[in-house]
Amino acid sequence: MNAGRFSGPGDVADRLAEQGYLADPATANAVFLADRLEKPILAEGPAGTGKTELAKAVARATGARLIRLQCYEGLDEAKALYEWNYKKQLLRIQAGGSSVSTQPSVSTQPSGSTGGDLWEQVGQDLFSEDFLLARPLLQAIRATEPVVLLIDEVDRVEVETEALMLEVLSDYQVSVPELGTVHASTIPMVFLTSNGTRQLSEALKRRCLFCYIDYPDPARERDIIMAHLPGISERLAGAVAEVVRLLREMGLKKSPSVSEALDWARMLMLLGREEVDDAGVDEGLAVLLKNKSDLDKAAAALGRQVRREPVGRRVARGSDSSDSPVEAV
Ligand SMILES: Nc1ncnc2c1ncn2[C@@H]1O[C@H](COP(=O)(O)OP(=O)(O)OP(=O)(O)O)[C@@H](O)[C@H]1O
Ligand SMILES: [Mg+2]
Repeated sequence: MNAGRFSGPGDVADRLAEQGYLADPATANAVFLADRLEKPILAEGPAGTGKTELAKAVARATGARLIRLQCYEGLDEAKALYEWNYKKQLLRIQAGGSSVSTQPSVSTQPSGSTGGDLWEQVGQDLFSEDFLLARPLLQAIRATEPVVLLIDEVDRVEVETEALMLEVLSDYQVSVPELGTVHASTIPMVFLTSNGTRQLSEALKRRCLFCYIDYPDPARERDIIMAHLPGISERLAGAVAEVVRLLREMGLKKSPSVSEALDWARMLMLLGREEVDDAGVDEGLAVLLKNKSDLDKAAAALGRQVRREPVGRRVARGSDSSDSPVEAV
């Protein structure tokens, strides 16, 4: 076990809170253990629950450089690990034309070397550090300074592509056939995030500490809102968190995320609201929910009309509502 960047789960929670990230106890615990055990964290959970932000906040809290590999369908070795700079290699071959030709002949060989020797030498030269383009995984392994490696939305890559990551995740090394194995001099903290859109391979899961990040409870969501929006009243932040909780309990197709709660709270502040009144709830539904059936279901359950006027226009026009506060929220 290493000395670690954190003295305990409480220290994780405190230092992340200083960075505006409010971790639940299970997440703080997972970060502490991952650091001590030098294991990657696999953070899974619904959209907008702070999985990506966790890695960013840990990087800020520890003064580490953040290196991010954004995953997508079709991501390959050349974009995840490394690739050779073919253009530069070609230029080198052309520039070295007087001594190195792409068509070696007796006249182009330095005295004493055979065609075979020459090509071996050319190969060694062209496949050296000078021509290597390090992509995020290799960058993280080669970094000499402390690094947080974020492999974001890993469930978007094909299962075969996950295999590219296994060597990094378990041994903190990358094998480059032409150069040999590159070992990490400083073990990076690694965060993988997933929305759980598909099952990840057992091989990948086995190498990670699993951390499920769920929606926060209303009290923590209120605090998150207050951390993001200095100046918002505790009462308004609490009311937003409470409406969001009600919506999440309705079994909607897409429950509102923390980021959507933040958007709504920001909007209420812009409108100069001090409490969540009827108009606020109407606008809230339009900001928090993203499909028609969810809007109708939530509006019916809350006994509200869904306001059809675009929220942006209302914000631009400013608060003109004389609606009374909603008792239910
Ligand atoms: N615990 C938290 N503390 C502070 N801010 C949070 C927290 N959880 C979420 N947020 C905020 O919510 C927003 C969304 O977070 P983030 O992008 O990390 O979510 P995510 O889980 O990665 O979502 P997705 O699955 O869509 O990528 C960000 O603005 C983030 O700062
Ligand atoms: Mg994310």
